[in-house]
Amino acid sequence: MSHHEMKVYGEIKLYAGTGSPELAQKIADYLDVPPCGRDIVEFPNENLFVKLHSSVRGQDVYVIQSTASPVHRNLMELLILIQTLRLDSAARITAVVPYLCYGRSDKKDQPRVPITARLVADMIEVAGADRYMTIDPHAGQIQGFFNIPGDVLKASYLLTNYINKNLRATLKDPVVVSVDLGYAKSGRNFAAMIDTPIAFIEKRRVANDANAEALTLIGEVHDRDVVLVDDEIDTGGSISQAVNLVKQEGARRIYIAFIHAILSGSAVKRLVDLPVTEYITTDSVMIPKEKAALLGQRLTALSVAPLLGEVIRRAHEGRSVGELFNE
Ligand code: R5P
Repeated sequence: MSHHEMKVYGEIKLYAGTGSPELAQKIADYLDVPPCGRDIVEFPNENLFVKLHSSVRGQDVYVIQSTASPVHRNLMELLILIQTLRLDSAARITAVVPYLCYGRSDKKDQPRVPITARLVADMIEVAGADRYMTIDPHAGQIQGFFNIPGDVLKASYLLTNYINKNLRATLKDPVVVSVDLGYAKSGRNFAAMIDTPIAFIEKRRVANDANAEALTLIGEVHDRDVVLVDDEIDTGGSISQAVNLVKQEGARRIYIAFIHAILSGSAVKRLVDLPVTEYITTDSVMIPKEKAALLGQRLTALSVAPLLGEVIRRAHEGRSVGELFNE
């Protein structure tokens, strides 16, 4: 390898949608590259309009936009930004989507239903993205829905590093509990990273009604500190059931670690009342201040900005991303 840095593309240019402005600013700070100016206007008829303040011709452009609430507005902003950049002759466009919406619609598990995650991937591609980056998509196979290359990143190491550094020594006989079997494999890796045993919750539908579920705990939580893990908290329904179950089974302190803080509607009101010592998550989705305030000191949101910033830098310089994770 020559020590000349081979620059195939022009400068790094960052564009942020309105879905994750704080995260975009943190990524910009990490890279020491200010976000580029753009207007995003919503007309009275709800149509969106984008205008870039400066040319991106020949540049290496990253569009940062999480697609949590308001999902469709954020998704359309992302698509329109990408198309605008394409039409302005950007050399390469990367969609940086820390949280990718519709991840739970990843297969036809009943007749006459869509696979919307595939549709979202197609739309990002058709809009003009050359590459994408995302963090812990709900299902691994979503990678295969894209024809363009992507960096599919894992953020669980942020949570496990935090636990090892700040909590591990004070935990009494800790055990990691995966909230459902869908997250079992990730849960097992999580447990290995903080050196604890693992337990699982198995959920079974007992009637054809969303609320009629039977939960079984596989593993030991009695008189142990419990770290419940999942990829996301949406309504908080699954986590509330899980907390109640481990409590019934004799858990001591309960911690919850999850990647994406969707926290729809009144989810936070539900979480406030749970006997949970700490909620540990990331800023892949912006948590509105009023919601964060309700959880107060019990909420820790670790930033994914250094991770995304570093991966953007490496993608720009054509360097390995795997070696970041010793792969
Ligand atoms: C389910 O498959 C996921 O892993 C989460 O358990 C789920 O999305 C959480 O949703 P809610 O908070 O609405 O129960």
